Amino acid sequence: MSVHAPSRIFVVGGTGAQGLPVIGALVADKKYSVRALSRDPASRRAKELVALGNVSILEGTFADEATLREGFRGCDGAYINIDGFNTGEKTEIYWAIRSYEIAIEEGIKFFVYGNLDYALKKSGYDSRFRAGHYDGKGRIGEWILSQNQTNKTRMGAAVFTTGPYMEMAVSAMTPMTPSVEEGVVTWRVPLGNGAVPHVALEDCGYYARWLFDNPERASGMDLEVAIEDVDYQRLAAAFEKVTGRPARYIDTDLDSYWNGPLKMAASLPAGYNADPGDKSTMSFRDNFTGFWNIWKHKIIERDYALLDEIHPNRIKSVEQWLRREDQLGRELGKGSLWERIQPQNLYKAPPLLKLTEDKRQGKL
Ligand SMILES: NC(=O)c1ccc[n+]([C@@H]2O[C@H](COP(=O)([O-])OP(=O)(O)OC[C@H]3O[C@@H](n4cnc5c(N)ncnc54)[C@H](OP(=O)(O)O)[C@@H]3O)[C@@H](O)[C@H]2O)c1
Repeated sequence: MSVHAPSRIFVVGGTGAQGLPVIGALVADKKYSVRALSRDPASRRAKELVALGNVSILEGTFADEATLREGFRGCDGAYINIDGFNTGEKTEIYWAIRSYEIAIEEGIKFFVYGNLDYALKKSGYDSRFRAGHYDGKGRIGEWILSQNQTNKTRMGAAVFTTGPYMEMAVSAMTPMTPSVEEGVVTWRVPLGNGAVPHVALEDCGYYARWLFDNPERASGMDLEVAIEDVDYQRLAAAFEKVTGRPARYIDTDLDSYWNGPLKMAASLPAGYNADPGDKSTMSFRDNFTGFWNIWKHKIIERDYALLDEIHPNRIKSVEQWLRREDQLGRELGKGSLWERIQPQNLYKAPPLLKLTEDKRQGKL
């Protein structure tokens, strides 16, 4: 069987934290051109993408069949990251399935699905580990791989399973935003002795590109990535080593965590357009309680030897990541990591997530 190597990629989620480095890697040498879907082509991020060259923007929403068809038509590859924090779990599942089906119908030859672990299944179906934004993707990741067994000669498909961005641990308004308490950078999170397999966004660009460059091997693959399993003692120690400033991790019980900076968000739906009256809709608190339990109890594993093979120069430790981030920030005139993490700077910087930039608003 030979899988057609794509050249023109339709991207959903291109203006997001994940999409920007993915598109950057696809068009860096102009091997690929990209058509990126955005509800707002006038946004700072959409303009940034167009400025890369070889990128055009299609205005519209993924929650619309006509738009999806228009996006896929004339392309031969697709990178689909449906935003579950817009839709909520139930609606995400529907549009992810329709994206796959319409991609086949419109003649896409290689489809990459932006996935997260099916944590509920990996926990042995234990509801303490229910995080809707994980299971909503993870179920579909499995479904796509099973469809691919029948459909692979018509359209190859790969699942790209990422995880919490490392950048979130040094950004404002995330589940792991640090505080600076009497000069000590402090992560107060309910992680116990667990660890978060954080991913480096830059490496996500490399991996996504690798999938499109190697469709023969990638078809049928679930590429599960991470830097390493980051326990937060190690994160704090690495931060101290890189910046020379004090840092600590304080294990926090769930009640204290939810009475902290996220208190106002706790009872809101995790997906900003999900129906709060629908009993399938998870609140922030329920969703991210499951999320932290996944890491605390080490439900998810990664095959780091495989990642070393696919990306020999990948970022392999949190210390390496912090060192790079410190260096890059200085080069870009943003200051050192220590300076950037001070609250007066942290909350002024452009948000990592587009959803935060848009204040959790926007149409479905
Ligand atoms: N935060 C993390 O650590 C993390 C890690 C791995 C995976 N994820 C998953 O990634 C997804 C979000 O992507 P992100 O992390 O890149 O977040 P983000 O920075 O908030 O970006 C959201 C992206 O989704 C697009 N989008 C949202 N609603 C849309 C709609 N109705 N139609 C078309 N495009 C729409 C936005 O495009 P426009 O606004 O331009 O339309 C933007 O490109 C979520 O499902 C999340 O679970 C998150």
